Amino acid sequence: MNSKSINNVVDLPDSRLTVTDKPSIKKQSLPIHLSVLVICTDLNIQLELASQLSLIGNLNVEFTEKIPEQFSQFELVILVINDGKNICHQIIEKLSAKHMPTLLLGDGIDADIIRTAMHHHVLDIIPFKDIEQELFNTLTVSANDILKTKKVAPLISIINGKSGSGASFITACLGEISADLCQDEIALIDADLHYGTLADALNFKANYYLSDALNEINKLDNVAIKSMMTKRKNLSLLASKAYTQLDNEQNKSFEHLEQLLWKIKLNHDLVLADLSRGLDLLTLPLVLLSSQFLIVVQQNIVSLREAKALIQQLTEKMGVNKNTINIIVNRHSKKVTNITLEDIKKALLIDSVFYVSNNYQLASSCTDLGSPLAKLTENKIIHKEICTIIKKVFPIKVPEEKPNFFKKLFGGHHAT
Ligand SMILES: Nc1ncnc2c1ncn2[C@@H]1O[C@H](COP(=O)(O)OP(=O)(O)OP(=O)(O)O)[C@@H](O)[C@H]1O
Ligand SMILES: [Mg+2]
Repeated sequence: MNSKSINNVVDLPDSRLTVTDKPSIKKQSLPIHLSVLVICTDLNIQLELASQLSLIGNLNVEFTEKIPEQFSQFELVILVINDGKNICHQIIEKLSAKHMPTLLLGDGIDADIIRTAMHHHVLDIIPFKDIEQELFNTLTVSANDILKTKKVAPLISIINGKSGSGASFITACLGEISADLCQDEIALIDADLHYGTLADALNFKANYYLSDALNEINKLDNVAIKSMMTKRKNLSLLASKAYTQLDNEQNKSFEHLEQLLWKIKLNHDLVLADLSRGLDLLTLPLVLLSSQFLIVVQQNIVSLREAKALIQQLTEKMGVNKNTINIIVNRHSKKVTNITLEDIKKALLIDSVFYVSNNYQLASSCTDLGSPLAKLTENKIIHKEICTIIKKVFPIKVPEEKPNFFKKLFGGHHAT
């Protein structure tokens, strides 16, 4: 079949698209997610601040009347000054001792409090009347400062055009091999809320799940998020509990997904998400925070038609840049001559097309027994094809392979 006829078949009417609402966008958004603690004894000021801060995206705020024992899970503290200056001095000193970036909020603040604040490098002092303009600006400056000091891992989503295309198998292979190729901390998120299989595929015994992390988001500081994930060397997994999506109560906790993703991004070098069930509203933040997409298809018309709809949804409805989309043709066989890689490229209008060969034995041993890396490395063909994707798409440094017999035998694998 030539590409023109594929194009006709995969051209879909808009009615096939499923997620119709644009994600809700707040008025202004911070460049990095901030968890902020507001220390304030006045309930009215708390209410006023809560409504102001709710207009800012990428921000999580908690209120307290006095400084808590533990505040390492926050990135910034706003201290509202409206009474007892002695307590203020103590709080400023305590926050400074823990190197906690702090903002003061209040009118007519005593000169000696201002002196203490300056001595302890408080970031800014904002009068109540200026909150509306100043707060967002100051939080943005703080967020940018934090951004400069921290490495933020890119997030790459692996999505299948059609169920069963191999998104989970490919995510598992990409995770295992990239962790093996470098020292970087790689995190995998199983976002298949119906029946996640990554833990089984990777032979990980998970006892902490995505749903648990979302439920106790406020307890997860940088150390906790890393120690809770199931880990083997530099590869970590946040597994998915079967049928999470059917639990209504659990669905509410997904409002914390964006915040959780930032915590994971800030504590790893690369994050991969298995979005096997395609797009849905619960897992939307994963799509919005992804810098690259790998769409897994197979060499058949139905799969390509679904992939076309998915690409349309991503680019036209969700504002995803086409240049960040890559196609992986899974279970590829050169024997299938009626749909070639070139045909797929033209039909989906995506330039970056990779392929992974069909290997029933390897894939089913991953599905049934978990895939120790040894099995993957033994399989030279799939290992090399996955390495090609990693080298071209992943922002990690991969050591150059020495030329060897296999290289000569199998040649290059990037289809472009
Ligand atoms: N390259 C391959 N060669 C042979 N079999 C494969 C290959 N890739 C995947 N499979 C097999 O195809 C089946 C589906 O793969 P997988 O579960 O990874 O797909 P998926 O897109 O994640 O599906 P789901 O929508 O169910 O989450 C599995 O049994 C897997 O072993
Ligand atoms: Mg899957």
